Amino acid sequence: MTVAVLPGDGIGPEVAAEATRVLDALGIDHAEHPFGGGAILEQGTPLPEETLAACRESDAVLLAAVGLPELEGQPVRPEQGLLGLRKELGVYANLRPARAEGIDLVVVRELVGGLYFGAKGTRDDGTWFDTCEYTRPEVERIARTAFALARERGGRITSVDKVNVMHPSRLWRDVVTELGATEYPDVPLDHALVDSFAMTVVNAPETIDVVLTENTFGDILSDIAAAVTGGLGLASSASLGDDGPGLFEPVHGSAPQIAGQGLANPAAMLRSTALLLRHGLGRDDEALALERAVDAALQEAPTADLGGSASTREAGDAVLRRLAA
Ligand code: NAD
Ligand code: IPM
Ligand code: MN
Repeated sequence: MTVAVLPGDGIGPEVAAEATRVLDALGIDHAEHPFGGGAILEQGTPLPEETLAACRESDAVLLAAVGLPELEGQPVRPEQGLLGLRKELGVYANLRPARAEGIDLVVVRELVGGLYFGAKGTRDDGTWFDTCEYTRPEVERIARTAFALARERGGRITSVDKVNVMHPSRLWRDVVTELGATEYPDVPLDHALVDSFAMTVVNAPETIDVVLTENTFGDILSDIAAAVTGGLGLASSASLGDDGPGLFEPVHGSAPQIAGQGLANPAAMLRSTALLLRHGLGRDDEALALERAVDAALQEAPTADLGGSASTREAGDAVLRRLAA
């Protein structure tokens, strides 16, 4: 088994280093590849062909974070590499769990459609635009992922849209309702509008189980869910397709303000590594052991974002000690 590791930019390499120590401890083969802002500066592209080929040939891809302040708003950006990689790997189902005392929810975010990938451009009259587009099959497959997950958890689904305004939301709501009635009648389903649902995530996260939503809403709601369950330093994700390697990455970005100082919390990256072990490599026991080790290390050696004083390396050390035990 081989894991393609993409350390990326900012705090990416710092948290990736802790993840590769864990892979080493578990005897899992891995190799690093250029990706993101660093790859733009060195090779002019955020997703070099060799990197994409290595990802395709791997059993799973572990990505830390991309993004460089000096490239923000430039024509060639690190984030384009990330979107390109998601699209190329076909990882349409992005699972973003958020857990804390009394809270256990997961955002199921559609990852390769919507505003991020619709027609975009500029017009002669000076207008700049992105277009939110969804097809029935795109909605069906992500809805099936969410229904299957809710069924497995013995839980229920809240499908989040903006049906009072947006055209694709009408398709979204129809398809989800139809699938629920025909294929998953045992899974309780309700619908919510994204604006007031954002408030529910803040005010009553304990009432939420599986959230099914489109790309842009899922991006925003998953950061809010992270905020109410301990912050971005803890939030992990798994992006899965129908076949081929999955992509595993923290919800957070490259956090340029704290990069290079050993301040980053590696927990989000290590929890993403646990999701990689479970969903990418089928190593369920090790996934659970790593999750328990991270939970214990968060008590023992919390980083600054959690009010502690452990460095990234010290937090990683605590995880490795627990894992060995
Ligand atoms: P961010 O997630 O990088 O940071 C938001 C806040 O959370 C900052 O205060 C940061 O210090 C803190 N934070 C994030 N991760 C942390 C960690 N592991 N430990 C402790 N604190 C942490 O979001 P941003 O500042 O809006 O974006 C910075 C760059 O990252 C941008 O270029 C953006 O495009 C990119 N980005 C990339 C990804 C990705 O690669 N998957 C995700 C989100 C943002
Ligand atoms: C995320 C990030 C990305 C997204 C950016 C960096 C392209 O914010 O993974 O949540 O918007 O999907
Ligand atoms: Mn985001």
